[in-house]
Amino acid sequence: MPTIKIFPHPEYCPKGAEITAPAGTSICEALLENHINIEHACEMSCACTTCHVIVRQGFSSLNEAEEGEEDLLDRAWGLEPQSRLSCQAILAQQDVTIEIPKYSINHAKENH
Ligand code: FES
Repeated sequence: MPTIKIFPHPEYCPKGAEITAPAGTSICEALLENHINIEHACEMSCACTTCHVIVRQGFSSLNEAEEGEEDLLDRAWGLEPQSRLSCQAILAQQDVTIEIPKYSINHAKENH
């Protein structure tokens, strides 16, 4: 089973975390199942950007982003070349390391 390492995030996992999930699971589902309650405002239907993560390692092992995901990502806070919407990023057999951005678009609206 692939391991997902998560960088420390002040709200979701202050000390960082390491979880496992079966291949074929989306990163978002894996996080939620392990009580890392990343935002998922559209209930994982690829219609928001709140589940944005940056894949620091293992990016190429994931399924490719479809056009709809790419379009949404353009609007995400803190976009990077290795950004994915975690509900659309499906684990293969390989381990991945992810970072949850400090803000999502919801926070950005409230604070800026
Ligand atoms: S939860 Fe909305 S796009 Fe992933």
